Amino acid sequence: MIPTQLIDILREASHVAVLTGAGVSAESGIPTFRDALTGLWANYRPEELATEAGFRRDPELVWNWYRMRRQAIAATEPNAGHLALARLGGLVTTTLITQNVDGLHARAGSPDPIELHGNITRVKCADCGIPVDPAPDQERVPRCSGCGGLIRPDVVWFGELLPAGALERARAAALDCDLFLSVGTSNLVEPAASLPWMAGRRGTPVIVINTSDEGQRTGPSIRHLIGPSATLLPALIGAAWPAARGGLPG
Ligand code: OAD
Repeated sequence: MIPTQLIDILREASHVAVLTGAGVSAESGIPTFRDALTGLWANYRPEELATEAGFRRDPELVWNWYRMRRQAIAATEPNAGHLALARLGGLVTTTLITQNVDGLHARAGSPDPIELHGNITRVKCADCGIPVDPAPDQERVPRCSGCGGLIRPDVVWFGELLPAGALERARAAALDCDLFLSVGTSNLVEPAASLPWMAGRRGTPVIVINTSDEGQRTGPSIRHLIGPSATLLPALIGAAWPAARGGLPG
């Protein structure tokens, strides 16, 4: 049951900022990072696989880890949570910011997601940066046709800068919005993790949608909706705009 107060806040909002994390894609069958046992980091050490040093140390291992994830993602579909957020964009000004690299928000119909950590379906030269499209589906690490450099996934690795302009756009939305939804993220990895609280510190209502409130901040403008995002997002958005419910999944 969603508190009426939260439904009213959403309906009356004029600009909603949304930050999503791996939890939004969990119900599409894509592993999160930190869920024990099933999380990606449960089986690998991030330093080996999600860093430039790890890639240079063993390009084949890293290239094929991402190739395996790309193949797994290609077999998934956006879930009702992705589709509800795409629907939200047609109901109110929405800035969708995602830490996810799976591309599912765009596939669900969100027009211009800010992909803070890049997109696993894109690859580029690790030396000169030129994109290679489509991503070669081969075990051997491809080489750049321009400079001969190794080809790598176009995702942000630990210690790397976020895509130019993405963080500025996300921060501007956090400071301008009159409602911030933090959905399916442990809110642990900076600079994305601070975005909800940049809004909350201004007194902007923050709704945290997560299957757990563990490790999440509390505060006067922060409310928690505990449950799966593929259920709660359609329920919240459908309650705020009942006429649109017919167009909402789930
Ligand atoms: P995490 O794995 O850290 O957190 C996933 C969050 O989703 C947890 O808080 C879960 O409780 C929650 N969750 C799981 N299933 C859910 C569901 N069905 N509905 C709602 N919530 C659910 O993933 P992220 O927070 O996205 O960065 O991780 C942030 C960043 O850390 C990633 O972008 C990645 C990782 O290192 C880089 O690789 C640079």
